Amino acid sequence: MRKLLFGVLAVLALLACIPLVLLATGTINSSSLRMILNVMAGIGGPAATATDLHQRFQLPPGFTLQLYASDLPKARFLRFTPGGDLLLSRPHSGDIMLLRKDANGDGHPDAVVTLIGGLKRPFGMDIANGYLYVAESNRIGRVGFDSASGKLTGAYEPLVEGFTDEGNHWSKTLRVGPDGLLYLSQGSTCNVCVEEDERRATMMRFRPDGSGGEIIATGLRNSVGFDWAPWSGELYATDNGRDLLGDDFPPCELNLVEQGHFYGWPYFNGANLTDPDMGPDPLAGQRQPTAPAHGFRPHNAPLGITFIDDRGWPAGYGHTALAALHGSWNRSTPDGYKVVSLHWTDQGIEERDFLTGFNQDGNIIGRPVDVAQGPDGAIYISDDYAGAIYRVSPGDNRTGWSPPADAAATSRLDAKPPAWLAGADLGAMAKRGEQLYFYYDCASCHEAGENPKLLTGLSDRLGYNAIIEVLKAPISPMPIFPLSDNERRELAVFLLNRGAGNTPVAGQAGAQGAP
Ligand code: HEC
Repeated sequence: MRKLLFGVLAVLALLACIPLVLLATGTINSSSLRMILNVMAGIGGPAATATDLHQRFQLPPGFTLQLYASDLPKARFLRFTPGGDLLLSRPHSGDIMLLRKDANGDGHPDAVVTLIGGLKRPFGMDIANGYLYVAESNRIGRVGFDSASGKLTGAYEPLVEGFTDEGNHWSKTLRVGPDGLLYLSQGSTCNVCVEEDERRATMMRFRPDGSGGEIIATGLRNSVGFDWAPWSGELYATDNGRDLLGDDFPPCELNLVEQGHFYGWPYFNGANLTDPDMGPDPLAGQRQPTAPAHGFRPHNAPLGITFIDDRGWPAGYGHTALAALHGSWNRSTPDGYKVVSLHWTDQGIEERDFLTGFNQDGNIIGRPVDVAQGPDGAIYISDDYAGAIYRVSPGDNRTGWSPPADAAATSRLDAKPPAWLAGADLGAMAKRGEQLYFYYDCASCHEAGENPKLLTGLSDRLGYNAIIEVLKAPISPMPIFPLSDNERRELAVFLLNRGAGNTPVAGQAGAQGAP
């Protein structure tokens, strides 16, 4: 027992060192480090805003982007009900949320409610036979569910129990296939190793009552997303390639999953190249690896995938799937962080950018996780970093943006003073802002170096709101700091109320009572 405890502590200590080592060896920049630390500490990124969307994101012509829902920390997998409500799993808070259909047409769900709570890391979900099936990290469960009203009609009950969930890739994805059977993918415990539990790193299949479980495909390191091509019924699954073989190897994979096939992990990477750590496959006499149908760029971390019904879409989206690339965590230059479209052509599968802008030169404001198509034909994308769901609808109506008038103007001064300013103790706020300025060593970039971006005289250029926006979604290489709303205000008060010599002065920017 004690040995086990020490083992666990040692692993945790080692894990905690990874970002520091990456930083020290120059394999990662400080902005990505901040993101990794945020992720490890369970801190999300700054909330997405309509202004972020307007300024940063790009789509192919013919689509409109909206911020459908925000304030949904750690939003992971999505599933539409036939009635048009959107289910969202949040493994870290153990719940499944229901975002009521936007019946009033204001561009947001009519309500956001917790449908089921108290689950163990729920991730994959699907609806069939009057049930909502849920893949928790250690079991499959189901609950009676009325798709039309979006209401539970019974008690949640376990269906298949006894799955293992230790190690790196604990999440389980569940879908009901076109054949009515339950498909379950589970990732590996490790980066590269031989699994003790032979069900890890596989795709399994069950009858709808949970019986008859069988492994149908092996060697799938972490196939988080899968879907069936509507024109052929073929099952395709994303798969995340292993780490620690450098920035540019191996590719992440899209596999055509077929019964009885072995997809290589841990003995083969990419186009069946022997893994340098594992050596030859001891079972080589009994199995041959199946090469991926498509290679994503290394460390891009493809997660959710969905085939598109292109009715009402611009031309060029027949035989197409969209896949969410969550983005690299240990690549020296961050890569991924976008949604791509995969096009099945006579020449093979072609990958194109669909939604980009989550990463601008290493400055990261979001990480796409899953992609779902609503009954309205639009695409909904979950983001577990910004805690947001975006809606991409066909139709070139970019007015869907309608950024607020003051943000669209060239001036970044406040159109009117923010409400929180009234009655605020600006002296005390400036003092705490100054402490934060020293704590996060803002001066290292803004006062030191060859060409410091001086923050003096800011009040001529920026208002409180603009400074708060910069702190929420900074421009590279300024990192994202884990600041609360109040701390951002304190920093803004400090910055707007000091003089040219970096000493606080009173009376600027209309801030009466500053020190
Ligand atoms: C790693 C370097 C770095 C650090 C550390 C840093 N910044 Fe920045 N900051 C930048 C860069 C680069 C810009 C963008 C410059 C530009 O507009 O091109 C910027 C822009 C800003 C701006 C907008 C300035 C303008 O004129 O538009 C503000 C305000 C700001 N930073 C505040 C802060 C505060 C407060 C901190 C500490 C909590 C901080 N920065 C830490 C690099 C840094």
